[in-house]
Amino acid sequence: MSLYPPYTRITKKVKRMTATVEGVGSLQAELRDRYPHQPLKNQKALVTGANSGIGEAVVRHLAAAGASVVVNYVANEPAAAAIVNEIKAAGGEAVAIQADVSKEDQVQAMFAAMYEAYGTIDILVNNAGLQKDSAFADMTLDQWNFVLGVNLTGQFLCAREAVREFLRRGIKPEVSSAAGKIICMSSVHEVIPWAGHANYAASKGGVMLLMKSLAQEVAPKKIRVNSIGPGAIKTPINRSAWDTPQAEAELLKLIPYERVGESSDIGRAAVWLASDDSDYVTGVTLFVDGGMTLYPGFATGG
Ligand code: BGC
Repeated sequence: MSLYPPYTRITKKVKRMTATVEGVGSLQAELRDRYPHQPLKNQKALVTGANSGIGEAVVRHLAAAGASVVVNYVANEPAAAAIVNEIKAAGGEAVAIQADVSKEDQVQAMFAAMYEAYGTIDILVNNAGLQKDSAFADMTLDQWNFVLGVNLTGQFLCAREAVREFLRRGIKPEVSSAAGKIICMSSVHEVIPWAGHANYAASKGGVMLLMKSLAQEVAPKKIRVNSIGPGAIKTPINRSAWDTPQAEAELLKLIPYERVGESSDIGRAAVWLASDDSDYVTGVTLFVDGGMTLYPGFATGG
């Protein structure tokens, strides 16, 4: 995966290979150089589904920006451990904690383990999400429940634990001007209908009003709740949409900015939304989509 804007990707890959051979430096250490002012210093962050894709980029960026992080995963422990090791080797703090976010007891155990490690939470990134695509008439109840369970109920369960701790602890002015920050990973499909993906689109539509309703409720307590709405970002979830030149050409027709997104695009947005730089921002979805939500078909039609 790339942690950098596309124009530096190749150089960075070469550098990483060199670094590994020489045993000095790492991709994570280079990422840290992006955040010399350490906007998340002394903050504790939990990122769900952080062992691959967008979640991995987000947890790496938050750690590079100074946060102590929890790398949540449900399967593939070695991937989570590798991320933790790389963050630590670059001078950061990280632990991996397993939990299925759709299960109440596992979520509560994960938060307890985080408090054991770090004492509290300042930033929650509700990222864990998946697709189980199907034509509507063939969609099974299991496919529906699985997607809603992880993508929507999982966000509710984690946000509820985080809000409880934010309310208990209140603001620590030396840490942040907010009592806590929640970032929900939504999608352009919180507003763009998606045939063949009714369960996924319904889950993201649900995330939108979960986020806004919660933001409205806890704003007086100085808790900020926002979403990021990624467009097409190169990750395993949508590999078939970009991994051949033909597929990528089709995809680009939907993206006015004419490039497919990188997970670093989301990592950088997450750092901003988690930091005091966005202190007056709550209840919004920040679309990071190259203009996918701009109805590109109308550029020439209508
Ligand atoms: C989906 C991807 C898709 C993108 C744009 C995301 O939420 O997970 O599979 O490529 O939206 O359609």
